[in-house]
Amino acid sequence: MSHDLQPRPEDRFTFGLWTIGNPGRDPFGLPTRAAVDPADSVRRLAELGAAGVSLHDDDLIPHGTPAAEAERITARFATALRETGLHVGMATTNLFGHPAFKDGAFTSNDRGVRRAAIGKAMRSIDLGARLGAKVYVFWGGREGVEAGVAKDPRDALERYREAIDTLADYSVTQGYGLRFALEPKPNEPRGDIFLPTVGHALHFISTLQRPEMVGVNPEVAHETMAGLSFHHAVGQALWAGKLFHIDLNAQRIGRFDQDYRFGAEDLKEAFLLVRLLERAGYDGPLHFDAHPYRNEDADGVWDFVRGCMRTYLLLAERARTFDALPEVREALAAAGADELAQPTVASGDSPDTLERAADELDTLATRGYANERLDQLLVEVLLGVR
Ligand code: GCO
Ligand code: MN
Ligand code: MN
Repeated sequence: MSHDLQPRPEDRFTFGLWTIGNPGRDPFGLPTRAAVDPADSVRRLAELGAAGVSLHDDDLIPHGTPAAEAERITARFATALRETGLHVGMATTNLFGHPAFKDGAFTSNDRGVRRAAIGKAMRSIDLGARLGAKVYVFWGGREGVEAGVAKDPRDALERYREAIDTLADYSVTQGYGLRFALEPKPNEPRGDIFLPTVGHALHFISTLQRPEMVGVNPEVAHETMAGLSFHHAVGQALWAGKLFHIDLNAQRIGRFDQDYRFGAEDLKEAFLLVRLLERAGYDGPLHFDAHPYRNEDADGVWDFVRGCMRTYLLLAERARTFDALPEVREALAAAGADELAQPTVASGDSPDTLERAADELDTLATRGYANERLDQLLVEVLLGVR
């Protein structure tokens, strides 16, 4: 094994303050552990080899904190960052917790709420920029509806677009140099959320005034909840040049939003994801947006942190091993994996030559693609026997 599985800052692992700080509250039960102080989280993450933290405005400065106290908290947090060398991988706005956002934030039917949401995001962008964030995430958890008849989705998307355009302008005008990343999710907490998948978000970005400044922040759990392949969603984001950030966790199809430790479910899909990210040379934060199990105590939180990073490193090592095995190379060739990278149409082709290619269908149908052999090799590499 070329990597000793000790995470290092160059591995670019980051954790949300709200993930390690999650006290185990759920819709059915009270918190099961004490929340972790943000500055203490920074120190502990640094000890464990993480590179950074991410935060919502309210994670650091709870709503209603007087200005002088907010300044003291921010300064203390900035000191912890400076002393440990951790950076803020991304910042974001809590546009879901306050009761005013119950009908949406940027897409609330109440214009006053929409204006307040944009204003809160502006303040939060100021905070993120001050703490050195390079990526700013928008997760529209409340941007949706239960009673579908209450919102025309075309109006909602127009208001969403207006908000992102206004905030992109704001960031540019302030000279912050931030890149925005939209985080799609199909449902929960709303019955249906606007921009439910990576594909929806990619199209939405193409309608913005500054499309080059905006990408996506896909999350394992979110595409998986909808029964989709996360590996394919990330593939499309990479192909579009739009993978600005990523939220790693684990989730089973058809369940509530589970937010498990990375790799805790569907290791095969996790392997495909890590192999893709590594092969594509993705160099943004590897961000864990997951929660320790509710039955963990304070120490278990750090087992969770170690587990997320360790599983990523292990999967990266398994992916390198897989691609270096001669039998895998042969199986990939038999499957025609490289052939897919070749253009289908040649420069000398005409409609005539392509139409004649259709005469070959019966011959072409006899080919086997050796996918059984290839897939079994993947399973054996994953199980550690190769
Ligand atoms: C969720 C989301 C959030 C966001 C976070 C940052 O399902 O609750 O994944 O955790 O990622 O608000 O934007
Ligand atoms: Mn999520
Ligand atoms: Mn997320």
